[in-house]
Amino acid sequence: MLYIGIDLGTSSVKLLLMDENGKIQNIVSKEYPLYFPKPGWSEQNPEDWYAQTVEGIRALLEGFDPEQVAGLSFGGQMHGLVILDKEDRVIRPAILWNDGRTAKECRYLNEEIGKEKLSEYTANIAFTGFTAPKLLWVKENEPENFARIEKIMLPKDYLAYRLTGVHSTDVSDASGMLLFDVKNRCWSEEMCEICGIKKEWLANIFESYETVGTVLPEIAGGLGLTDCVKVAAGAGDNAAAAVGTGTVGEGSCNISLGTSGTIFISSDRFSVDKHNALHAFAHANGHYHLMGCMLSAASCNKWWMEDVIETKDYAGEQKAIDKLGENHVYFLPYLMGERSPHNDPDARGTFIGMTMDTSRADMTQAVLEGVAFALRDSFEVAKSLGISIERTKICGGGAKSPLWKKMIANILNVKVDVIESEEGPALGGAMLAAVADGAFESVKDAAEKIVHIVETIEPEPELVEKYEARYRQFKEIYPVCKAIYPKII
Ligand code: XUL
Repeated sequence: MLYIGIDLGTSSVKLLLMDENGKIQNIVSKEYPLYFPKPGWSEQNPEDWYAQTVEGIRALLEGFDPEQVAGLSFGGQMHGLVILDKEDRVIRPAILWNDGRTAKECRYLNEEIGKEKLSEYTANIAFTGFTAPKLLWVKENEPENFARIEKIMLPKDYLAYRLTGVHSTDVSDASGMLLFDVKNRCWSEEMCEICGIKKEWLANIFESYETVGTVLPEIAGGLGLTDCVKVAAGAGDNAAAAVGTGTVGEGSCNISLGTSGTIFISSDRFSVDKHNALHAFAHANGHYHLMGCMLSAASCNKWWMEDVIETKDYAGEQKAIDKLGENHVYFLPYLMGERSPHNDPDARGTFIGMTMDTSRADMTQAVLEGVAFALRDSFEVAKSLGISIERTKICGGGAKSPLWKKMIANILNVKVDVIESEEGPALGGAMLAAVADGAFESVKDAAEKIVHIVETIEPEPELVEKYEARYRQFKEIYPVCKAIYPKII
């Protein structure tokens, strides 16, 4: 049997083919455009997701017997707003997780409705990327579009709909909408009322490892699949990545260095960060998690390398970095504003500390370190809640860099467990499909059998100390710049 995991990312869709023993057989990815129609806005065309996914499945299965495919599932970019009309046609481009246009709507929700109420109804407060503030924005700014809404979908759920004809979502992704009662795993009537939306507009909720339907015969036929390929609900990309890295037990941690950067802490019990700096979401294994999310992580390095210094030789540039813990340059990685823990859509990327002897390598090092320092900010919030984290898994494109992993181990002072494959969400998606098909008893069972640690990066006391001092300096920069950012937009 074969299972397909589909990671619907921000720059591309990655597809992974896994056999029933959890062995990865093939991986392909297909890119699509990302649009920034105004500064701080971020949109995509759902049709691009679908077209590239179907092309991706075709490419993935080349050289394999498509009739062996028993199931597929997803890890998807979270929070994106896809609105459909009464004929299930997409009304406007999707507004993505890293879009910052909803500052006014967030202020209304957090200040007029109030953080306490939001937290009581959903376990979370409003952040610009979340889905509910986007609905309020459409209502206010595009009333003609709002009037046509009959379905509200998340990105990966729109794909599932196109493949199965079923409007579904899963508990982990629904958690990021600010319309979902995370504790009780159901839609919040109160939030529907606050946002002026009908509950029927929302999709049916499933656990991530449950089957929502089968691939429609006309699509299955075109891809050589049988007409009984099960589609499991899947998960938001961070919960799917946690599955793919085996981050499923109490207190286990995963760091994702993708376009966004996240710290994901799995828990068997529901809990809320009383300051709501960390998100309290449902996990794909039937339980819960806390998560800090920074909006630009590996994307900062990509921006620096490809757009600014114009090279794709990531390893070559990093080879020139030889004085860890001693850089005098700092970089604040807020290229799209910042979510955790600052909740500040006006924040911007900032270099500081350069002198005449600053080199290109120092600047590259500052970018990598800045991302790690910003992750540490969320890590500190977790520590302040009494959560002790001694080790973490790591995944995402940034996890391919040995230097970046070493920085993270030393800046966070944690052991970094490296697993065989850093393909977190795509592997997690395939694992959820396999669980739905009965190949594994549970998500935990799949994680235990499939995910193996191949190396552990230990923090080095001397470096930890140097980075501790540098982190203290890093922390002083944002509060000073905070008042300036809104003025330089
Ligand atoms: C999580 C978040 C991001 C996106 C990236 O809250 O917004 O990690 O899911 O795809």
